[in-house]
Order: sequence, then C-alpha cells, then structure tokens
Amino acid sequence: MDQYYPFLTLPLPYSYVSLMPCCDADTLYAHHQYYANSVRSLNRLTVRYGLMERSLEELIAGELNLPPVPEREIKNLAGLVYNHNLYFNSISGSVGLPPENALTEELRATYGSLEQFLKLVMESAQSVYGSGWLWLIVEGGGLHLATTQNNETVSLDAVAPILIVDLWEHAYFPIHRFELDAYLRDWFARINWDHAEALYLNAVQ
Ligand SMILES: [Fe+2]
Repeated sequence: MDQYYPFLTLPLPYSYVSLMPCCDADTLYAHHQYYANSVRSLNRLTVRYGLMERSLEELIAGELNLPPVPEREIKNLAGLVYNHNLYFNSISGSVGLPPENALTEELRATYGSLEQFLKLVMESAQSVYGSGWLWLIVEGGGLHLATTQNNETVSLDAVAPILIVDLWEHAYFPIHRFELDAYLRDWFARINWDHAEALYLNAVQ
C-alpha cells in the first residue's frame, strides 16, 4: 500500500535479539535506527520542498522538478525507506520450514526447488557490486529475481515486489563478514512466508 507524508518508521515485528544468527541485536538496532533517521530526513525534506501531497512511490518514480542535489537526496531517501519497510517485514522472528502455499508452489514450478531458488538468489546477489538490493518480483504473472543498486527500487508501476534482501554491508558484515552466501542462507531461513504469500496473492489475483 502506498504511503503519504508524514512517513512513519515501522516498528520491527520482532525483538532485536530474535534474529540470531542471521543478525545480532546491536547490528539490528543500528540498522533500524539508520532507517528511522532516514524517515525523519525524508519527512523534513518533503516539507522543505513542498512535496507533502506526493506519495512515497511518487517521490521515488516521479519528476520532482527540484535542483539536482535535493532531487537526488529525496529520491535516495524515499527508496531507502521503501526498501527497508519491505525488508524488515519480509523477515520472521522465528525460524521454520517453508510452508506449502501458492508462493512456494510457484517458486518450485519456476526454479525446480526452493534450494535451487536460493542458489539463484546467491548468484544474483554476487552480481551486485557495491551496495544494493535483491528482489523477488511478480512481472507478467510470473516470478523473477531482480537486483538494484544503492537505494533504487524496481519499477513499482510495472512489477509487484514479493521479497527483498538488503545487500548493503551494514545488513550482514558484522556477523557474516564477506560470507554473503551464509547471510543469504540465514535470510532464507527467516523469510516471513505469510507476508510474502499475501503480497504474492495480491499480485496475481
Ligand atoms: Fe539497510
């Protein structure tokens, strides 16, 4: 659902200590504070430049007609907020086996198995140089993996995001160092499948 000013810092749907070993409490707290600070900055700039009628998605994708520096800063913050909203809610506070639902059935149909899907997630993530994001999206009725750089989003008017992985080092380096595959395996074990299923059904129905 699109959001409007004032943009809100969504609370974590789990405690700071509940994501070990995927993420330790200090790292998760710092990560969430970084996101909260970005929400405050976005609200401040939205007011300063008179953009309160623009939705979050319009700030990301629309022409703001501002000088290059504030235009880039607002779009970067809006993408950061959108991506972290989805990321923190794509993760579950408990570890469990993937359920049998419409999304996992389609993942198996598309990629052969969930393990094969995770392998492609790892390969796709390795293709992102510098900071960025990895997405599972619905496009044209089918599931696809996509990557974006920095705080860019996928084309929100053309595709439906289902899952997202934060590939900035702040998300995993304190625990996983350069072991990106280990981070992604831990992330996979913590997918909030109910949240992803709801987004998937909304996208295909
Ligand atoms: Fe992040």
